[in-house]
Amino acid sequence: MYHLECVNCGAVYPADEILYNCKICGHLLAVKYKMEDISISRGEWNCRPLSVWRYRELLPVNIPPVTLMEGGTPLYRLTRLGKEMGLSHLYAKHEGMNPSGSFKDRGMTVGVSMALQLGKKSVACASTGNTSASLAVYAAKAGIPAVVLLPAGKVAVGKVAQALMHGANVISIRGNFDRALEMVHDLCLTHGLYLLNSINPFRLEGQKTIGFEAVDQLGEIPDRFVLPVGNAGNISAVYKGFLEWQELGFMDQIPMMTGIQAEGSSPVVRAIRENLPEVIPETNPETIATAIRIGAPVNAEKALTAIRKTGGLAISVSDEEILSMQRDLARKEGIGVEPASAASVAGIRKLVEQGAIDRDERIVCVVTGHLLKDPDTVIKQCEPPKEINADLPSLLSALHL
Ligand SMILES: Cc1ncc(COP(=O)(O)O)c(C=O)c1O
Ligand SMILES: [Zn+2]
Repeated sequence: MYHLECVNCGAVYPADEILYNCKICGHLLAVKYKMEDISISRGEWNCRPLSVWRYRELLPVNIPPVTLMEGGTPLYRLTRLGKEMGLSHLYAKHEGMNPSGSFKDRGMTVGVSMALQLGKKSVACASTGNTSASLAVYAAKAGIPAVVLLPAGKVAVGKVAQALMHGANVISIRGNFDRALEMVHDLCLTHGLYLLNSINPFRLEGQKTIGFEAVDQLGEIPDRFVLPVGNAGNISAVYKGFLEWQELGFMDQIPMMTGIQAEGSSPVVRAIRENLPEVIPETNPETIATAIRIGAPVNAEKALTAIRKTGGLAISVSDEEILSMQRDLARKEGIGVEPASAASVAGIRKLVEQGAIDRDERIVCVVTGHLLKDPDTVIKQCEPPKEINADLPSLLSALHL
């Protein structure tokens, strides 16, 4: 029903070959379905619960999946923030409501299921945090060991806590994420662990369901789809899913894919702004949004295509703009997200201020991970609780009553 195909030269490989890069040109691979063999209607899908697995005909897994009921995340209308920005159709898809608290679970339910389908006995990844948490969770559910490599001192505490508690072998390297990814890639090629970073074509298949769900929830096709961009896997995955829906006749037009990066870590934004054929890696990426602190995004080629082909945009936001939006989402909408996730909505606020987008657009921002992933960054922005004596007068005085 499907094969692997190089995104650059079109070379074709069998579905069960364990391969992360094209043997001819070294570029990444994508899963290609035989669309003519897929006979499913959106009506049939709509009878199933909203989840990653609602769309199983467009996923590569043919064994009972390793699942914790991921997906089916809420799509919230941002009424107060939308009004402030002068946008009447602004939405946030809260991916922090997945089992491990980030969108990575959509990729991992498919990726770890594929590990079992392909007969692999152990899994591994490099991570800015969320991938490691998610892999640890799904490896635990599958009953197989996981190795995760983290950039030392640069991963939010909630994510490290999850990876440790769910039983992964957690290794901190004295280097950044990009180096960790090179190392784990080598480890997997030489020692047979199954690599579950976003260079794995199967993992991204799960992530494309964010787009499917958002369209199903909205009941119409949004004009713009906005994602924070780190390694650029998620924006590429959602775009790939939309192309498939277009091919199946479920969608006539594809939303303008819009990528938001942090100022100190924005090679994709630069490539779009300067109309470069490919990204120029940044050697020392830096941002408070550690989840997207990535200087050499491995999926950049696909992301540039997604943004350019859909007439989308790419913009960077400062750490202050990110944190300000994190507070606004929390206090004005009741939506708790980690800094990287706030970047998508912060990017929209900036684009509106610049007059770069039409105020009538229907805009879906993906907010990718939960507030509790990075409690340190939250606490630093807030006043500490007032400690008082345990009596009513002290309470009234603390409340200025
Ligand atoms: C919370 C969060 N948002 C966004 C991203 C970026 O996603 P991608 O690397 O697919 O661009 C990540 C990646 O780790 C993340 O953890
Ligand atoms: Zn190739």
